[in-house]
Amino acid sequence: MKGIILAGGSGTRLYPLTMVTSKQLLPVYNKPMIYYPLSTLMLAKIRDILIISTPEDTPRIKQLLGDGSAFGVNLSYAVQEKPEGIAQAFLIGKEFIGDDPCAMILGDNIFYGNGLGHKLHDAKVMAEKGQACVFGYYVEDPKRFGVMEFSRHEKGTENGSVTVLSVEEKPKEPKSNYAIVGLYFYPAGVSEKAAQVKPSKRGELEITTLNDMYLQEGRLGAQLLGRGFTWMDAGTFDSLRKATNFVCMIEQYQGMTISAPEEIAYWSGWIDAAKLQESAKRYGKSPYGEHLKAVLEGKIIL
Ligand code: TTP
Repeated sequence: MKGIILAGGSGTRLYPLTMVTSKQLLPVYNKPMIYYPLSTLMLAKIRDILIISTPEDTPRIKQLLGDGSAFGVNLSYAVQEKPEGIAQAFLIGKEFIGDDPCAMILGDNIFYGNGLGHKLHDAKVMAEKGQACVFGYYVEDPKRFGVMEFSRHEKGTENGSVTVLSVEEKPKEPKSNYAIVGLYFYPAGVSEKAAQVKPSKRGELEITTLNDMYLQEGRLGAQLLGRGFTWMDAGTFDSLRKATNFVCMIEQYQGMTISAPEEIAYWSGWIDAAKLQESAKRYGKSPYGEHLKAVLEGKIIL
């Protein structure tokens, strides 16, 4: 299974912050935004990851994350010349994906919750078996999102997934309050399918169109992220502030750092203690560095 972080876009809603900086490099409390989606893909045990960003921002992201060896993963980079839609990621990533299934996460999406790894695992198994999987999250204002209608009467499907009945992009009359969030798992062949997506009225290759293609073939399922999970996109001032407050609150209550890719790599056995030590040093006296040291010293056990 391959993974893509789509971290381009123009970030106009965060101007002037994003006039000379990538949105994905802005802080969410104490670490750059892109650490969160990277952690999510790593929790799904995905180790081959392509980061797609703008011509200006790709080198900066590469400067921060390098080849991924600090995180025990293989990172590669590609440029999206213009933000022409989320589904374009699969055209840009065609060679990288090859014949594998592929997950994609948006660079400004943050997921947190106990058991997230299991949900991701279930989605991965679905994609490996030839079914696309999206995630539904209850929102108050579904008109702003891609919305999924789903069968509410199923109980106890094998992997906790629900049957999707329809998907609609920013509907005027939403059929449910469940938004399709920015994390998608697709079976092998997603680049070929994305090549059939026609630009929408706003000129973008819409991910909702791609999802609808899988739906029409009876190959779209969804996992619901219920209570106990938090999803946020940090693309507006209000949501960026909320994301910062959320991470700050969780870290202060729990007394430990969340979404540290080096830590996930260490617990997964992808890097050894020496490598973690190297990273801890690199972060100097910051709380992030202190956290990695605490993991090394065995003060924190998973
Ligand atoms: P959006 O928030 O829809 O767009 P944006 O980041 O350009 O911001 P704004 O609306 O404020 O101008 O994008 C969601 C995520 O997807 C974000 O992380 C950027 C990424 N993205 C791309 O990398 N390329 C694209 O073509 C699109 C549409 C989004």
